[in-house]
Amino acid sequence: MNTTARRYHPTAPEVLADPSGSYAWLLEEHPVYFEERFDPPFYVLSRYADVGAALRDIDVFSSEFGQGPRFTPPRGMLSNPPQHTFFRGLVQQAFKPASIEAMRLRVTALAHELIDTLPSTGEWDMHEDFGFPLPVIVISGMLGVPDEDRHLFKRWSDASVEAMGAEDPTRFAADLIALNDYLMDAIREHRKHPERDNLIATLVRARDGDRGLSDEEIQGVLSQLLVGGNETTTSAITNMVWRLLERPAVWDRVVRDPTCHEGVLEESLRFDPPVLALYRNLTCDVTMHGVTMPKGSKVMMYYAAANRDPRVWNDPDRFDIDRTGRHMSFGLGVHFCLGAQLARLESLCALDALTKRIPKLELVGPGERIPPFFLWGRKRLPVRNGRM
Ligand code: HEM
Repeated sequence: MNTTARRYHPTAPEVLADPSGSYAWLLEEHPVYFEERFDPPFYVLSRYADVGAALRDIDVFSSEFGQGPRFTPPRGMLSNPPQHTFFRGLVQQAFKPASIEAMRLRVTALAHELIDTLPSTGEWDMHEDFGFPLPVIVISGMLGVPDEDRHLFKRWSDASVEAMGAEDPTRFAADLIALNDYLMDAIREHRKHPERDNLIATLVRARDGDRGLSDEEIQGVLSQLLVGGNETTTSAITNMVWRLLERPAVWDRVVRDPTCHEGVLEESLRFDPPVLALYRNLTCDVTMHGVTMPKGSKVMMYYAAANRDPRVWNDPDRFDIDRTGRHMSFGLGVHFCLGAQLARLESLCALDALTKRIPKLELVGPGERIPPFFLWGRKRLPVRNGRM
């Protein structure tokens, strides 16, 4: 157990720098914590059993009104059944394990192509030069939009998630409008070519009874895929490489033994979840651990703290690639991450290519974190191809 337990406040500099320092305080002393300083204030659930029970109870812990810290209207999959079931069903086929497995060769080739562009000596950035382009190019191909626009997607998806947690979300309005306009143009273009083999065309062809989807409905699903799948997977790759390079002996083992790669990824996702937490909205008063959370409250599901709950995990603050167990980093229940298989495939292809091509990779420094308080990844992670 972490002995330097800190109080939790989502935007305190020390919590932003190392969120794990406050998990023990929440888990042991405040299993239902009320964060009053945020606007709107919210409750925090951190214990594995409590987060799991809440995620399964979708009638009480509802996703209507948003999975972010602010209240937003239901949209696409950000809703409860039956709306959620309908929208998820439309895109599910493309994310089934067999469809994702069929992408393995292409994703592996892409990881190697990105490595081909890296400098053979000197410093480069794991986020900017490798971890970020890989998922954006993959999802652009699935959606049917040009991957040359990836810097625009990056900017807009960063703005979308930053707006969710920012004190003043209005400063991201211009980027959100630009993302909206871009997707609307792509939808109109696909309405002229509904026969195309990509996700936008699938949504354009989809029927809800006897009506097709409106541009706004399609745009909602597309922005969720773009925003939900990019920085998260980038962070999964970057966080994993960061922790391994911090431990050169573990990195060397991972280079020598590809059979441990799946365990490495799962431990990395447990230890450093790219999505630290998301929210639910209470449909009635709920009392847990003697605290009553009133109807209408926002409740934060702290996946990252649940992943360190000592009731479930032995020596939870230790990074141990031989560990087994089910982490919460992709959520649980009906909203379980649609892109989990894709994210795993991309991260494992990335690890395989890096260990094969740059076995002497070295960390230059810890870089810096990405801004939104409920996400966790490196905005910069300087590395070099060393130890030749
Ligand atoms: C390591 C990378 C990823 C992480 C850590 C992650 C995390 C999560 C989490 C925690 C949820 C649950 C949301 C909730 O309970 O409200 C979720 C849902 C979702 N994720 Fe991911 N995600 C990742 C990659 C992806 C990718 C690659 C895609 C698609 C391209 C994607 C698309 C989605 C979608 C559409 C949902 C909503 C599912 C629903 O509400 O039914 N994610 N993700």
